[in-house]
Amino acid sequence: MARLDVTETFHGITFPGHLHTQDSLQSALRFPFQDTDILIVSYPKSGTTWMQEIVTLICNRGDPHVCQTVPNWTRAPWLEQHYCAMVLEKYPLNPRVITTHLPQHLLEPALQGSKAKVIYVSRNPKDVVVSYYHFCKMAKFFPDPGSFQDFLNQFLDGRSYYGSWFDHVKGWTRQTETMSNLLHITYEEMSLDPHCAVEKISAFLQRPLVEEELNSCLKHSSFSSMKNNTMVNCTLISPEIMDHSKGCFMRKGELGNWKSLFTDEQNQHFESVFSSRMQDCSLKFVWDL
Ligand code: A3P
Repeated sequence: MARLDVTETFHGITFPGHLHTQDSLQSALRFPFQDTDILIVSYPKSGTTWMQEIVTLICNRGDPHVCQTVPNWTRAPWLEQHYCAMVLEKYPLNPRVITTHLPQHLLEPALQGSKAKVIYVSRNPKDVVVSYYHFCKMAKFFPDPGSFQDFLNQFLDGRSYYGSWFDHVKGWTRQTETMSNLLHITYEEMSLDPHCAVEKISAFLQRPLVEEELNSCLKHSSFSSMKNNTMVNCTLISPEIMDHSKGCFMRKGELGNWKSLFTDEQNQHFESVFSSRMQDCSLKFVWDL
């Protein structure tokens, strides 16, 4: 089956043109945020869908009904996708939960002065690149990833769709230092202590939960629940757009899965690029269990 990848270049960053147009990207930059909005921000494959599920559950006090009946792209639409405005108009959400993969410098003007609550999710980049590689094999709106070596080089050079992982993480991390309505949480924190992570997110959103509600959030946002939830596991997406024979969107959900693909040589090269690109950033990642 043919790939649907058309590259859209915007502010020097490449995007999948099947999902984003110049107009939709431009509109994202001028988006009129409301103070009650919740914005989930991440680099692809960092736990975006997981956070969408957690936030939806918290906003519904642990009740899974919305998670189990409304696809994530409707209940937490992507700001930069061409259908975002239509979804927000057609399905009024309260609060509005919006998702984006855009880098901080592009969203800064739209967020200036806004009290919208922003949650930035980051993940250790070795697991991101492995997850991204597998995803690109199945998602036909991305170019064929080729060999893992080629894909890794592209990632380290900042040539992946949605831009450089390093610039993304550093931009949003810098923003955390100055923006009080921004919570930065990592995939690893969520994996290692989901109870504490959900508590932290609900406190940030000023939506405290009683123990029973919190336990329900944990149950319904667990990897096994989400893997079986057709509203988030991408199985509703047609095979012309996502080739399900090439893999699963809810693939492994593991911390340290990069070890399944990286060679020692690739790891050494990665570490040297990482330490040079991240020397001006204090962020520390957990790489494995
Ligand atoms: P893997 O490919 O490593 O399994 P995104 O939503 O940003 O595209 O990220 C997708 C990654 O998050 C996938 O990683 C997916 O399995 C993982 N993921 C999604 N929900 C999860 C959960 N509840 N627990 C752990 N990992 C989860």
